[in-house]
This record gives sequence, C-alpha cells and structure tokens, in this order.
Amino acid sequence: MDIRSISAHCFLWVTILFLTISISNPTWPNSPVSYYQDIQPILQRSCQGCHQPSQARGDLVLTSYTDFQRGGSEGKAFIAGEPNQSLVLDLISGDPPSMPMDSDPLTQAEIELFRRWIIEGAVNDTPKVDSDPTMKPPQYTIPPLISSLAYSPNGGILAVSGYREVLLHKADGSKLLTRLLGKSDRIESIVYGTNNNMLVAVGGTPARFGEVQIWDTNANKLIHSLQSTFDTIYGASLSPDNSLLAFGCTDETARIISIEDQKELVRFDNHSDWVLGTVFTTDGSHFVTGARDTALKLTEVKSGSFVDDINASNKGSGPIHKIARHPKLDQVLSGGEDRIPRLYRIFRQKRRDVGNTDFNLIRAFERQSDVINAIAFNTDGSQIAVGAVGGEVRIYKVADGNRIATLNADSTAVFAIAFHPEKDQVATGGFDGQIRIFNPNTGNLIKEFIPVPLDSVLTGAKKTGKKVEIAREKDNGVEATTEIKLAVSGMT
Ligand code: HEC
Repeated sequence: MDIRSISAHCFLWVTILFLTISISNPTWPNSPVSYYQDIQPILQRSCQGCHQPSQARGDLVLTSYTDFQRGGSEGKAFIAGEPNQSLVLDLISGDPPSMPMDSDPLTQAEIELFRRWIIEGAVNDTPKVDSDPTMKPPQYTIPPLISSLAYSPNGGILAVSGYREVLLHKADGSKLLTRLLGKSDRIESIVYGTNNNMLVAVGGTPARFGEVQIWDTNANKLIHSLQSTFDTIYGASLSPDNSLLAFGCTDETARIISIEDQKELVRFDNHSDWVLGTVFTTDGSHFVTGARDTALKLTEVKSGSFVDDINASNKGSGPIHKIARHPKLDQVLSGGEDRIPRLYRIFRQKRRDVGNTDFNLIRAFERQSDVINAIAFNTDGSQIAVGAVGGEVRIYKVADGNRIATLNADSTAVFAIAFHPEKDQVATGGFDGQIRIFNPNTGNLIKEFIPVPLDSVLTGAKKTGKKVEIAREKDNGVEATTEIKLAVSGMT
C-alpha cells in the first residue's frame, strides 16, 4: 500500500467517524433547543400535512420559521419568552391536546422542546443556504461520482454534477467554463430551462436538508436556493412553460414549486417509498411520479389530486429509479431494479380490468445486465439510452425495441445519460467520475475526460489510476459513493 492509498483510506475513515459522531450526538440536556434541529423536524412530521401553503388549516403555514412566526387566523402562534401566552404550546399540551388534530399527541419530551425553545427566545437558527461568495471550490483527489448530466438547449454546454457544485463544460469536452458552487453536498438532478438562461439543480446533504438551486446561466449566479425536507431530493423536472418545478423526496412525497416565488404549490403523498423521478405531461396539466414503491402515478397539477396508476405494479416493474418523458408525446419510460426498461402511455385509453392488465404498456425492452440507474430519450424520441450498474449503456430504437449499440460507459456503474440536442452524441457519467461521449448509432467512443480539476499533488495517482481503484475496491461498489465523495471534501 503506497502513501496515497493510505491517505485515501484515512480520509475515508475519518469521514465515517465524523459522520457517526455527528449522527449519534444527541441534543445535550442543557444546550439550547434548536429550531432547525429539534422543532422543525417535529413540525415537518406531525404538522405540515395540514399546515402548508397548499393547505393552510387555520390560515397557519408551518413550513418555514417566518410563516410559523406570522401565525394564523387566531394571531401569533408563539411569543418569544412567553410560553403561557403561546397558542401553539397551549394547543399541543392540552388534555387532550387539540393539535396535531386527529392523530397521536406529541410526546412529553417533544412538548418540552417547544416550551424550552419559546422560553429561550424562539430563535431561528436555520442555516443560510445562499451561495457564499467566500466559498472555495472543492479540491478533488479522485474524480467524484457523476449523478447527473444535462446539455444546454442550444447544445453548447454540458452541465455535470460534482461535489457541492455543478461544472459547466463546453459540450465537446474541450474546456471547463464555470463552476457553480452551492451548499448541497450532492447534486442529484440537473435540468435546463428551455429558454437557455436558467439551470435548476436539486440535491442536498443526506439526512440534513434537500435543496433546489435556481441559477441564472447568463451571469452564472445563484438566484434562489430553497430548502425542502430534511434529506436529499431527486428527479427534478420543469413544466413545459418553465414556470413549475417538480421533484421527488425521501419522505415519500413529490412536490411542485413555483419557479417565480418558490412557493410550494403541490405536495403529493400517494407513494409509499422514496419518489425518485418526476415528469410533466406535454401540456403541463399533469405530472408523473416514479418511486421505489414500484408505482408510476399520474397527478393533476392544478388540484394536486391523484388521477391514475399508470403501471400495473404487480405485473410491472420493481422499485423505479429513473423516469423520462418522450420529448414530444405523453409517454413515459421507467427503469429500476427489475432491469427492464418499460415505455408507458401516460393517459389510459381503457379502464383497468379485474386482471389488472398492464394496459398502458407500449413496450417492455430487453432485460439489462444489471439494475438500471439512468435512462434518456434522444431529442426526436426515436432512440432511448439505458445505463446500468456494471457500467453498460445500451441504445435502443423506440419504434421496434431493437438494440442499436452497446456502450462501455463506466468501469462500475452508470448514473447519468444525456443526448446532445442536435448532434448524434450521447454523454454518460457514473461511478468512475469520467465523462464519456459516444456516437449512439455506432457505439464509438468520441471523447473521454475527467470533468473536475484534480489536485496537482495527486496527478501521479491520476495517471496510473491507482488511487481511484484503491478507493473503489475497499468499499465494494456503489454503496460507498457517499463516503468517497466526503473523503474528497475532507481535502478542502
Ligand atoms: C389533521 C390536520 C391537522 C394537523 C396534523 C395539525 N393541525 Fe393544527 N390545525 C388544524 C385545523 C383544521 C386548524 C384550524 C382550527 C380548528 O379548526 O380547530 C388548526 C389550527 C392550528 C393552530 C391555530 C392557528 C390559528 O391561528 O387559528 C395552531 C397553532 C396549530 N394548528 C398548530 C399545529 C401544530 C403545532 C401541529 C403539529 C404538532 C398541528 N397543528 C397539526 C389541523 C391540523
């Protein structure tokens, strides 16, 4: 084991140790109660179902400190320093308590947290997530996993997810143009607005916060950052008019926010596991969600109401990892654990029968060699690309389901695929952190590059590829991704 592999190792373990400590460290009995860490999670779990922008019972919204402070139809919900005059405390501690309405009361310990927080001044300690001008770009010792890729609508730029940043490259891979630095450790999904001036990146820091970043790509400036839920968020999509953003959450909800004012307009809670993908229909009236619970669901945007189960989940897929919409039609492609890409009609033409036939299914493609983690349509919808654990990407003709080419796209796992909007090119990214650009018709590799600048001290390692290999072998595959990425941040 050479010195570099030892250092890679140390970072890994220091990081794991750090994570373990920060997770297991409870609020000490005498430390002040934190709104962000103690109160907000309770509000989120027990109260926000009825107190959110799209459903504000008693005119009270409990999704942000400012709204909570503003109060509802009865006036302020709390008064700092005055537990006896704070309505919220009265309502959660009555006998029986009137809030949360129709569900289990909060525990004595939780009520005590509210009481102490109010006595201690009801301080808002939510961390600011605006882009920090002093923020230093991360220094990489190994290429970080690539979880998302997107071409700008005019095809000039390829946006690549990094650690705490989105990197904008010239689409041919010849130059790194800009680094968009944000607060989220992980960027899970990147989408461009169709007008070229907006890029939306969603992600978060696992078990801490989810974040939506809205960037102005003319000025390369973060215009808005919105926190949502207490975990990484996934599968972002924009409505056709670029006014709405949908995304999936680990709290089993899918949400829609308005791009203009970042207000949450829809919170859809009809899934029973993580929601990992969203797409809007061609007219923007509905949206489709795909989740680990194996379901593909159709929801009306305006009312937020569930409309239909698109797939017959007992006949259809296993847990769904990614979904993509046909660029011109109301058809959705899904892929996940059962390794079979499936193309569905979004709106059903027949009622479901007792046999629960998979009526909306247009085509089930060939079973892949491993779990599917990336899918994409080309611009005219004539081809799809499917990427799997194992590192293979296969290109299919949509019309007949025949395989056109097989790309050797990663040494371990592919997580991101994007077709160039004009040229016959498809970009792939995954666990080994390299971008590869292929011709989808021939399967020929056109260009291969590492999208992040690697620390010069370690370029020797980069040349041999040794350090990268060592980090990977030690952590048997995909699950180690977070630790390796965090090890990278340990260098900064
Ligand atoms: C199942 C729905 C539901 C849940 C869950 C719920 N509430 Fe309410 N809440 C209501 C309704 C409805 C009102 C309107 C008053 C009424 O009808 O009694 C209300 C009113 C309130 C008010 C008074 C607002 C005002 O100014 O009129 C407060 C404070 C409040 N809730 C706090 C909470 C807290 C804190 C929780 C979580 C611990 C919670 N609620 C959970 C339905 C709910």
